[in-house]
Amino acid sequence: MRIGIPRESLPGENRVAATPATVEQLIKLGYEVVVESGAGARASFPDNEFEKSGATIVSTAQAWGSELVLAINEPSADEIGLMHRGSNLITFLRPRQNEKLLKALQEAGITGLSMDMVPRISRAQSMDALSSQANISGYRGIVEASYSFGRTFGGQVTAAGKVAPAKVFVIGTGVAGLAAIGAANSRGAEVYATDVRPETAEQVESMGATFLKVRSGEADQGVSSDGYAKATSDDYNARAAELYMEQATKVDIIVTTAAIPGKPSPKLITAQMVAAMKPGSVIVDMGALGGGNCELTTPGEKIVTDNGVTIIGYTDLASRLPSLASQLYGTNLVNLLKLATPGKDGQLVIDFEDEVLRNMTVTRDGEITFPPPPIQVSAAPVPVPEAKPVPGGVDPDPPKNPKPWWVSFSIVGVISVLLIALLTFAPPAFVGLFGVFALALVVGYYVVWNVTAALHTPLMSVTNAVSGIVLVGAISQLGADNMTITIIAALAVLIASINVFGGFTVTNRMLKMFRKG
Ligand code: NAI
Repeated sequence: MRIGIPRESLPGENRVAATPATVEQLIKLGYEVVVESGAGARASFPDNEFEKSGATIVSTAQAWGSELVLAINEPSADEIGLMHRGSNLITFLRPRQNEKLLKALQEAGITGLSMDMVPRISRAQSMDALSSQANISGYRGIVEASYSFGRTFGGQVTAAGKVAPAKVFVIGTGVAGLAAIGAANSRGAEVYATDVRPETAEQVESMGATFLKVRSGEADQGVSSDGYAKATSDDYNARAAELYMEQATKVDIIVTTAAIPGKPSPKLITAQMVAAMKPGSVIVDMGALGGGNCELTTPGEKIVTDNGVTIIGYTDLASRLPSLASQLYGTNLVNLLKLATPGKDGQLVIDFEDEVLRNMTVTRDGEITFPPPPIQVSAAPVPVPEAKPVPGGVDPDPPKNPKPWWVSFSIVGVISVLLIALLTFAPPAFVGLFGVFALALVVGYYVVWNVTAALHTPLMSVTNAVSGIVLVGAISQLGADNMTITIIAALAVLIASINVFGGFTVTNRMLKMFRKG
């Protein structure tokens, strides 16, 4: 099958759907690749580089006339006209907003796969073009902000005076928001962030920013079952507005990335909040693509308000870093085609049993296949069953066979009696050792359970060291005259050795994952 890479016709678009490096990978999958002349020029990938990697340079009509076209933006009517019936198109189609485009593809008999429909499941992460592009855009948003901001981001103490760090407030901490936090933080700014999804707080803190929670009574008010945000309640909006107003008077830069899929960007920053900001402040409204998170944003433009606040509403932030954006987007496409080319024979197989391919396919065999059946994605929090109200204070469905109170008491009582008997009749040396053992249990319990689960593997190294002590003690007892002691010592040597060697093997494997090459 022949893959065509056209030159993007959208004004201001600098990216290209393949780079010389990704062309090589497409050829390895068994495809023939043709690239429209000049397709990669604006992203610093000249035609001769594509030729070196095995592609053929062709005209616009030949690129669009291929059996499989890989692009970035929605095709124009003319471009659809250049495609053949039965061919395939993979690009951003934005099917929720583009009913007419789906109809045009259906009528032209084109199978369309939309890159903004890659589901947010772990298996599809390597194909997630929305994330790869939003990540670049978040970074670029901070670069644009620093260009328009009249001061440095980092604080300094100089001979000419002390400079305070810039204060940055990020609203919406998805992929773009987290990238913006990382970029602002690495430049030395003091970063604050908020999101309607409270579970992002941990990620925000891990990036060195402070999470500001909206003081609304409702928990998880903004999360839908697909892991994305949903429209927020009036109570939440009112509390959030208080927080935004408070921050508007304090911070120098606001970055908004709040998005709800398929809906216009929620308006979060009002004209009144902009008026409260200091002259020289900057707002980067990444929600401009969906109309803007700020009331005063002009999508696609940078404006300066009467009170000296710059509002950046660029909708092409990823395209402003075209080489990197093209490379990552091209790699997303290669990963998708690896999935859709099971035989590595250059034949596209759109298997509807595969939830990634099913979710992305919006037209096929002359039919519109959008919307796809819903799938549960990994980003979605596990739903907590709601507590049912109890009429008249009586629980209609009490837990079955609750354990009577005396059972627990009896168990504790029997254990206590046995312990007292043991300690009364045991030799004094045993009582001393038993005390140490009991204390070790308590300390061990608090040490292990207070360590977060993610750190349990490094903790194993410490456990290994403890086992090393056990090993030394057990070896010293191996030669004891008493047979029972020798057997227990041998068992201790065996078990401690398994822990030492097993633990170090696992730790070593874990460390290898972080080693380069
Ligand atoms: P995402 O879905 O990963 O993140 C959006 C975040 O906003 C989510 O964490 C969500 O919980 C949060 N959110 C939604 N409603 C909110 C509200 N009312 N208050 C606070 N937080 C709220 O999306 P991603 O990929 O990070 O993209 C963010 C935005 O940036 C999107 O609008 C996207 O279209 C836009 N974008 C803009 C570009 C540009 O050039 N301007 C380029 C790439 C993305």
